[in-house]
Amino acid sequence: MTQTHHPIISSTGLYTPEESITNEELVESFNAYVQLFNRDNASAIEAGEVEPLATSSVEFIEKASGIKARHVMSKAPILDPETMSPRWPARSNDELSVLAEIGVMAANQALERAGRSAQDVDAVLCAASNMERAYPAMAIEIQQALGIDGFGFDMNVACSSATFGIQTAADYIRAGNARSVLVVNPEITSGHLNWRDRDSHFIFGDVATAILVEDSSLSPDNHWDILGTKLKTVFSNNIRNNFGFLNRASPETEGTADKLFVQEGRKVFKEVVPMVAQMIIDEAARLKVDPHSLRRLWLHQANAGMNRLIAQRVLGHEANDDESPTVLDTYGNTSSAGSIIAFHLHSDDLQAGDTGLICSFGAGYSAGTVFVRKVG
Ligand code: COA
Repeated sequence: MTQTHHPIISSTGLYTPEESITNEELVESFNAYVQLFNRDNASAIEAGEVEPLATSSVEFIEKASGIKARHVMSKAPILDPETMSPRWPARSNDELSVLAEIGVMAANQALERAGRSAQDVDAVLCAASNMERAYPAMAIEIQQALGIDGFGFDMNVACSSATFGIQTAADYIRAGNARSVLVVNPEITSGHLNWRDRDSHFIFGDVATAILVEDSSLSPDNHWDILGTKLKTVFSNNIRNNFGFLNRASPETEGTADKLFVQEGRKVFKEVVPMVAQMIIDEAARLKVDPHSLRRLWLHQANAGMNRLIAQRVLGHEANDDESPTVLDTYGNTSSAGSIIAFHLHSDDLQAGDTGLICSFGAGYSAGTVFVRKVG
C-alpha cells in the first residue's frame, strides 16, 4: 500500500524591526532632499538643463496606497537627506548576516508556536525578494544558525516568494521527501528601494516572517489544512530591479537608478487586479470552495485599493476589515512577507472548519494562492 502525505501549516512566526518611520517623518526628509537638490542645481534648473524635483505629500501617500508608516532596520540614515539609504556596520564572514539574523528570529517564533525544535525540521527554504548576497545560500546560513540537519536553498519570486515557498514545501511533503519544512521570508526591502524617488519612496518596509509546513502526521492540535496551492507567472517589465553582477559588463548602465526598484504603478494596478481575482476564482472552483463563503482573505499587502477590488470580486461584496485585514498601514509593502504578516496577526480568532485564502502577487508578474482550513 502506498503511503499518502498531506501538507499542513503548523505555525507562523514574525519578526518586526523596532524602528518605524511615519509618513510625516518620511515626507519631511524627502522634501529636505528636494530643497537641497533644487538649491544645488539652481542655475541648471533656471537654464532649463535640469528638471526641478517636486515635493512629496503625506496626504497623497496615504490616499494612493493606504500606508501610514513602515518598520525599518536602519532609520536615521534613511531619513538623512544626505544618505537616504540604510546603513549598518559591515559584518565579518564569521558573524551571522543581517538577513539571516532576522530570518532566524521569525523562524524561532514559528518553531516555538508549533512546539517544535530545530531537530524536527528537514529543510529550510529562504524565499524572499531581496537576498543579501549571491552565495552561500541564505537558507543554509539560517539552517546552520538554527541547528537543522537537512538541506536548504534560496528562492526569489519577488513579492510572491512566500506562496511559491509554501507550494514548494508542500510538494516536498506530498512527495515524501521531507516531513517538516521551514519557509523563511526575511525582507530588508529598504536596501533596494530608491528613497529619492518621489513615485515610490513611501512603498516598502522591513520585516521577516516564517511558515512551518509539515506532514499532517506531525500536526499540532491547532493547525491549518492546506486545501490546495496554485502558482502563476506572466512576464512583465512593469516592476523591475536590474541590480546584478552582469551590469558591470556594461559600464554605461552601472549605477543608474534602475538598479533599484522601479515600477509603472498604474499599469501594475490595472493588469494585476483582474489576473489575481480570476486566478482565485478559478482555483476556488477547482477545489470546490465557494469563493463567497471564504471566511477571510490574507492578501498581499501592496496597495489598499488593489486589495479592496480583488476582495470585492472574490467575495461578491465589499470586504470589511474582518474579511480582508490590512497591515499596510503600519508595515507598508513588505514584499513576500505581507500576506504572511496578515495571516500571522489575524488568524487566531478563526473557528475550526473556517476556510481562508493566503494570496500574493507582484513582480514577474507572479501570483500564488494557498487555500487553508482551520483545524483544532
Ligand atoms: N507625493 C505627491 N504626489 C505624488 C507623489 C508623491 N510622493 N508621487 C506621485 N505623485 C503625483 C504624480 O505626480 C501624479 O500627479 P499628476 O496627476 O499631476 O500627474 C499623481 O500623484 C498620481 O500619480 P500616480 O503615480 O498615477 O499615482 P497612483 O494613484 O497610481 O498611485 C501607487 C501610485 C504606486 C501607490 C499605485 O499605482 C500602486 O500602488 N500601484 C500598484 C503597485 C504595486 O502593487 N506594486 C507592486 C510592488 S511589489
